[in-house]
Amino acid sequence: MSTLLQVSQLNKSYGHQVIFEGADLTIAERQKIAVVGRNGAGKSTLFRIITGEETPTSGQVKIHAGTRIGYLTQHSPFQDDESVIDFLTRDSGKPEWECGKIADRFQIKPDLFYVPAESLAGGYQMRIKLISMLLHEPNLLLLDEPTNYLDLSTQILLEKFLQTYNGAFMLISHDREFIKKTCTSTLEIERGETSLYPGSLEDYLAYKAEQTELKEKFNKNVERKKQHLQKFVDRFGAKASKASQAQSKLKQIHKLKTIEILNPLSTARINIPKIEAKQGIALTVDQMTIGYPDKEVAKNINLEVERGEHIAIVGDNGQGKTTFLKTIAGEINALSGQFKWGHNISIGYYAQHTPATLLSDNTVKEHLSNAAGDGVTEQEIFEMAGNFLFKDEFLKKKISVLSGGEKARLCLAGLLLQRHQVLLLDEPTNHLDFETVESLAQGLQNCNSTVLFISHNRTFVDVLATGIIEVKNGQVARYHHNYEEYVYHITQDIEDDLTPPPKTSKKPATDSPQPSDHQTRQRLKEIKKQIRTLENTIQKNETQKLQILKWFEDNPDYNEKFQEKTTQLAEIDKILTDSEATWIKLQEEMEVIG
Ligand SMILES: Nc1ncnc2c1ncn2[C@@H]1O[C@H](COP(=O)(O)OP(=O)(O)OP(=O)(O)O)[C@@H](O)[C@H]1O
Ligand SMILES: [Mg+2]
Repeated sequence: MSTLLQVSQLNKSYGHQVIFEGADLTIAERQKIAVVGRNGAGKSTLFRIITGEETPTSGQVKIHAGTRIGYLTQHSPFQDDESVIDFLTRDSGKPEWECGKIADRFQIKPDLFYVPAESLAGGYQMRIKLISMLLHEPNLLLLDEPTNYLDLSTQILLEKFLQTYNGAFMLISHDREFIKKTCTSTLEIERGETSLYPGSLEDYLAYKAEQTELKEKFNKNVERKKQHLQKFVDRFGAKASKASQAQSKLKQIHKLKTIEILNPLSTARINIPKIEAKQGIALTVDQMTIGYPDKEVAKNINLEVERGEHIAIVGDNGQGKTTFLKTIAGEINALSGQFKWGHNISIGYYAQHTPATLLSDNTVKEHLSNAAGDGVTEQEIFEMAGNFLFKDEFLKKKISVLSGGEKARLCLAGLLLQRHQVLLLDEPTNHLDFETVESLAQGLQNCNSTVLFISHNRTFVDVLATGIIEVKNGQVARYHHNYEEYVYHITQDIEDDLTPPPKTSKKPATDSPQPSDHQTRQRLKEIKKQIRTLENTIQKNETQKLQILKWFEDNPDYNEKFQEKTTQLAEIDKILTDSEATWIKLQEEMEVIG
């Protein structure tokens, strides 16, 4: 395997805080590396140094010739009103059929090509960004927390893609389940050093634990031996006949050294103050419709939540989980119907964008004091800060320089200082390291507040959820199975989607509810638009197909381009078959409803 990149003797400090101290690292072709480490350990800093966005204090990064780095950007690369296919062809300079080929792997079908990229839900935008990155044919991907804000379906798609990807990648993630499914090596960043271990994260953690145990055993033996020698010296040291032996034993004692065992890194221990325990219903939702003035998101919502329940709100991106949470948090109005909170309930709301609203000029301590409000003592503020690992010098740090996880921790600490009976948490685990996610899950599990939360982190939901609300296809309802079953069903759905559908078209069920005239007109309009788009795609691909067939005519003998052209032709044929099948399906639907 040849080397893609080499980092040697890397040093990086911010003021007194040392991030890297003599770190070395070599990445070879096809390695699938999980980059792990605590919040603030320096993972994002390492990526920024590799891409040249940040300069090291000293040391070298050598990127070998032939290495093409693909970096998944966090910002939106789309221009105003730019369609998916326009963006992909502009960004990659590749023809439509080639864009379509990669798009297909992420279930972006031709009928989405002409939709403005920015109008798509988050999970789909992430898919488009991944497609554009891959069209540049990188052989080393740098992925900085790509699963944050991704719904389960897109996570599973990304998972399946990474499993079969034949280039190398470095993946920063705090999601153990995702890492377990995709990575075969582990790079840990800890105490200024990088250790690359050629095994899975679970193996690496087991290996580390074993090493510590071995060192402890060795040290115990050393101590025992020292004690024996010391006993000998104490007993015979004064006697002339044994004096020289005692001297040599003394020397031996000095030579015996124990191996240094590093103190385990401190972990957040999140204690959530108990609230006054009460029985009964915390929330009643009655015939509620949610959404925005120009868009209804879900209707006929009827449900109840009991005090002390811990409910996970699940569903794909764009289905309306956040809209539901925002509505019951009182951030936006319900379109109709109502919801009611129990008597005297105070609500704490953590939104997806909460970390971004932190005042960057404030220090950590200033933020916590402001958040705490009246009645909370300095002692309690320091305790909560300590729970979330903000101590000593760190309390004086400006918010502007905090890492993603540090910002999220700070917001949560501020919120928990306010002691609400109800906590509404929209993706609280994004950016948090494993240890903090675990402590947060445990802290919340033990607390008697009512918690409604959205999270795509499977471990977190597994530990915390006592019930589930599913948001899907315009409905919000209690899901009457457990989370494990929910994940199983989603995985099945994806696998079904990834296998090509049978050729026969499905007739709509005759007993399905009749759509309103308005809905029918809307649907007809959509269908006509999609049909035009497909015809466009079919025409373009037909032209390209003719060109390739002409090439075969002109080049009857085998040459080095033969294979490439054959592949292109197969891809074009696939797009044509898919587009034609969709075209027929849409025509049939139009006949039925038109
Ligand atoms: N410009 C800066 N000035 C001072 N400190 C900084 C600056 N930039 C980053 N840091 C600190 O460096 C440390 C490493 O930051 P980095 O963003 O690399 O962490 P990370 O490992 O990616 O963490 P996370 O898991 O939270 O994303 C953090 O403690 C952060 O507060
Ligand atoms: Mg980071």
